[in-house]
Amino acid sequence: MAPALELKGVTKRFGEKVAVDDLTLSIEPGSFLGLVGRNGAGKSTTLKMATSLVEPTSGSITVLGHDLRHDSLAARRLMGVMPEDMALLELLTGAQYLHFVGRMYGLEDAEIDKRGAELFDTLDLKPGTRTLVADYSFGMKKKLALCAALIHGPKLLFLDEPFEGIDAITNRTIKDILLALQAKGVTLVLTSHILEVVEKLCPLIAIIDEGKLKGFGTFDELRQGGESLESLFVNLVGGAPRGGLSWL
Ligand SMILES: Nc1ncnc2c1ncn2[C@@H]1O[C@H](COP(=O)(O)OP(=O)(O)OP(=O)(O)O)[C@@H](O)[C@H]1O
Ligand SMILES: [Mg+2]
Repeated sequence: MAPALELKGVTKRFGEKVAVDDLTLSIEPGSFLGLVGRNGAGKSTTLKMATSLVEPTSGSITVLGHDLRHDSLAARRLMGVMPEDMALLELLTGAQYLHFVGRMYGLEDAEIDKRGAELFDTLDLKPGTRTLVADYSFGMKKKLALCAALIHGPKLLFLDEPFEGIDAITNRTIKDILLALQAKGVTLVLTSHILEVVEKLCPLIAIIDEGKLKGFGTFDELRQGGESLESLFVNLVGGAPRGGLSWL
């Protein structure tokens, strides 16, 4: 069976900056991968390349057997994406936005309405029917972005910081949704700075630093002894905690 996601020697440069540096990584269908790393480590850039939003400078990426260089449309049909900046259309209402996304995936209007109502209800998303996305709170936008990523029933779901700015109740709902998807064989890739969440939720973990893969495996494979993911992370990416600003 083709890997769900395979990156081979993937590099992304922005001018002088090497955001992702010769990254090679492969995950099987049904995997649940948590991508962790410091700010600026290259996580979002990796996700953007895997979802065909950004083109690698070099290297190759295949998604469920589709090479993104030649066959990205077929790959994108199978994916759901919640990008870092959410990329919503702010001058639509939430329902209009879901129709826009659902139609792109070829769903009928009645089916979009049905799935949209179920998603809004499950995620406790209750905007006014005429409220524009621009006027949603940050967490509401995040929820809408998740609805849009799920509406077509993706085989592979990429979520960039799905728990950022989300209330504690919805946090649990989202975790339950992800675990239910995993049980159905959907491949999941998320980034998060909340290491306790990654440790508990993601059977597979990749640690990225300065665009390079510093660790990859199950939590048990990665940890040496009884370490938490946090202490493992600090050991791998280094850097003593700093404090004490000179003028304060
Ligand atoms: N479009 C761009 N133009 C120039 N530099 C970029 C661009 N996108 C990303 N970078 C740079 O690439 C590096 C990696 O950025 P990236 O957004 O992938 O980090 P990240 O791991 O997602 O960080 P964070 O945890 O803060 O979200 C950073 O140094 C960033 O400034
Ligand atoms: Mg990021």
